[in-house]
Amino acid sequence: MPGFELTRRKSLHALAGFLAGSPLLQSQLDPVRDHSRIPGLKELLTSYEFEAVMYAKQTRPVYNYRAYGEESEFTLRRNRQAFDWVKLVTSQTSTGNVTTSTEVFGTKMAFPIMVSPTALHGDLDRDGEQSTHKGAEAASNTPMILSNNSSLAFDKVAAAAKSPMWVQLYPKLAMEANQSYLEAAQAAGAKAVVVTIDQQASVYERSLHDRNLNAGGGRGGRFGGPAPVVAGTNPYRVSGNRLWYEWKFFSEIRPFVKVPIIAKGILTPEDAKLCLENGVDGIYVSNHGGRSLDYGPSTLEVLPEIVEAVGGKVPVLFDSGLRRGSDILKALALGANAVCLGRVPLWGLGSFGAAGVTRVLEIMQAELVEAMKQSGCTSLESINRKIVLANFP
Ligand code: LAC
Repeated sequence: MPGFELTRRKSLHALAGFLAGSPLLQSQLDPVRDHSRIPGLKELLTSYEFEAVMYAKQTRPVYNYRAYGEESEFTLRRNRQAFDWVKLVTSQTSTGNVTTSTEVFGTKMAFPIMVSPTALHGDLDRDGEQSTHKGAEAASNTPMILSNNSSLAFDKVAAAAKSPMWVQLYPKLAMEANQSYLEAAQAAGAKAVVVTIDQQASVYERSLHDRNLNAGGGRGGRFGGPAPVVAGTNPYRVSGNRLWYEWKFFSEIRPFVKVPIIAKGILTPEDAKLCLENGVDGIYVSNHGGRSLDYGPSTLEVLPEIVEAVGGKVPVLFDSGLRRGSDILKALALGANAVCLGRVPLWGLGSFGAAGVTRVLEIMQAELVEAMKQSGCTSLESINRKIVLANFP
């Protein structure tokens, strides 16, 4: 009976059909990749959805560089877990319109939200940080901190939009290099200088497993052979740029910095006090989004004791792990004056360019307002420890 003959071709076809429908195969598919189509900008409702779209649209190494954390990624995970240890107390004590505007170092903000410094936006968008700046401006003038590792120079990014910009610095041993960089940024309108003192020798170990030997932090040489040692640049011989900082660095740059100086990467009350003793104008609590010292604490856990040590003398900024408006509310309740977002705007940029940055920031702003309403807070001043139950282990 020729009609029922199972030819080799037909049997292979049948086998392929069976495998394609098999739950065994389905379970091996990457769940983030498993989209039947990429949703449009207006369909996205949470910051997390932007990450999935960025993953779909960008190349794997470009996505990975933004996703990975230091070594085992304990701290990367801990940053998120910490938000589960802080509960919000619902209260109907106040109703009415919510106001969210504030000012930090003379920078006016419609919401206590800024864009953290993150590297190389040109990987994600043809116009690099200019798109981020435009996108942030369109989200109620969200201020942006430009990374020292930006794709474009400060003046070019500043020219793209009018919303406030600060500048981030990785200290260089050659003081003239710090001076020329900071003077150029101030001349182009930088309203504050953020000096990063963490991430002195990072390794993104998942890059090693990817055999992507060049992606990594300050110890980039580790996987491609020993880091090049340039005589006299670094007493620890780890990197040409880092691991040599001393607190006196802050007074050394002061003569050519006319704007406030903020120390980024503070995780202990002792360091916060040292900042104050060394004339630092602001504290930025951050573990570099889990990209600095692995097995360091989450930033939310250490925030209260740092706020206590600072005692209101200088503003306290906060980042690492924020994904929702309620996360922002928790950080404000534990004493941050404003928060910064790193990966979230990158997900916006990497998915829909400037429009994605705007939309994802608007989502975070709207979620913050909702969370404030539900907690009975109508102003930033009314946000305090009473609206949270913090149970850190
Ligand atoms: C990073 C460095 C560049 O986190 O700040 O990738």
